[in-house]
Amino acid sequence: MIRTIVGTQWGDEGKGRVCHFAMQNADVVIRCTGGNNAGHTVVSEGETYKLHLLPASIINPNVLSIIGTGVVVDPRVLAQEIKELKARRIKITPNNLVISNRAHVILPIHVELDKIQEAQRGDKKIGTTLRGIGPCYQSKSERVGIRMCDLVGKPETLKEKIHFILMMESADLMSAGHTICESEVDEIFEEYSELGQYLAEFVKDTKPILRKEGLNIVLEGAQSTFLDLDWGTYPDVTSSNPIASGACTGAGVPLNKQSEVIGVMKAYTSRVGEGAFPTEQNNEVGDRIRELGHEYGTTTNRPRRCGWLDLVMVLDACYINGCTSLALNHLDTIGKFEEIQVCVAYQYNGKEIINYVPVDLENCEPIYKTFKGGWSTEGVTSFDELDERAKKFIEFIETYTEVPVKYIGVGPDAKDTIVR
Ligand code: GDP
Ligand code: IMO
Ligand code: MG
Repeated sequence: MIRTIVGTQWGDEGKGRVCHFAMQNADVVIRCTGGNNAGHTVVSEGETYKLHLLPASIINPNVLSIIGTGVVVDPRVLAQEIKELKARRIKITPNNLVISNRAHVILPIHVELDKIQEAQRGDKKIGTTLRGIGPCYQSKSERVGIRMCDLVGKPETLKEKIHFILMMESADLMSAGHTICESEVDEIFEEYSELGQYLAEFVKDTKPILRKEGLNIVLEGAQSTFLDLDWGTYPDVTSSNPIASGACTGAGVPLNKQSEVIGVMKAYTSRVGEGAFPTEQNNEVGDRIRELGHEYGTTTNRPRRCGWLDLVMVLDACYINGCTSLALNHLDTIGKFEEIQVCVAYQYNGKEIINYVPVDLENCEPIYKTFKGGWSTEGVTSFDELDERAKKFIEFIETYTEVPVKYIGVGPDAKDTIVR
């Protein structure tokens, strides 16, 4: 059985907390795409964990956590994340952590290229996380990338590959005044072979692990549908395919074994970085959402842009991901507003009314439906106990998307989850 967790907006919908919930009866949890551009928060028994590369399951040693083939791994960041969690007494051994030997490696040049490319874009910058994600996927598709198997393989081969990738990527680096010399190859080689030795015990081929019959697998999506390279709001997207089919590719599992696809959404919308955002509230409403929802980036600490719930996006995401259920987070946060707006259609180019996300989202004007808010979720543990206004809000989401809202977040802690 495979359950896939995907974001339905622009990231940070609370995938980490939903994954923490779903892993309770899982054998394996796999991070499938992206890298340390992700920041997944898990709050469990009063402890807060902010995870960037490790799956949310890492806090449970009985679940096998896998960093899948589709992930781009910065070994500096991963080694640090493992060390920090171990210092918090989280058990991390080759029995509960595997890193795919096919996953690509982020090198310092990728981080540098990310900065160079953003600077060169001028007023067309994307607002990336500057973690080297895009340039690493670029090297991957150029077929010059270094994989985890290289990092832990023969030293002479690793050195040769570092030399080759630096040579192949040199044009862009040199355009920003960076000249490549042999001593740089040596420096990277020394640091990265040491990191390779530290991570070696976790690096394996995931195929023999995943082919076992009867495994209960959870795919932990990162980023989100509208940051997808093909289906997101291009060019303001990430460089991988975070949608459910991309998650299957990244994990190396068959599409037809997915039994549940959980689309994670917030009761409002947020976005980090540049790009169209029709329901954005660049005013006191947006400021209030940000403060009430603590909407500051888990990875970069950037204030997140905030606005009303855009159900057109969620509807689109439900289709492309094949969502079988929705997980709605921050019902507590939105309930603090006396009046809530929800976008139910767009007026496109000042004329047509549409209910899908077009290629030029910036030409869409949201059409809102107003809901009564003002509810509290304090002490509520079941759907039946929810305020009637909150029930109406949830039932409307279900009618509009034709997907049941199965999980409801009423606080950041795992225990603040209502399951229907
Ligand atoms: P992810 O990247 O999708 O895993 O989401 P992030 O962890 O980046 O951002 C979600 C934020 O919302 C985190 O700070 C969570 O602790 C918090 N959060 C998630 N669900 C809820 C909820 O239902 N209520 C409240 N108040 N906070 C939540
Ligand atoms: P999680 O998994 C929110 C955004 C960046 C930027 C764009 C491209 O925590 O939901 P990149 O560094 O990937 O090249 O940046 O994508 N972005 C995210 N926004 N949550 C994320 O991950 C994100 N990962 C990337 O802000 O706009
Ligand atoms: Mg996040």
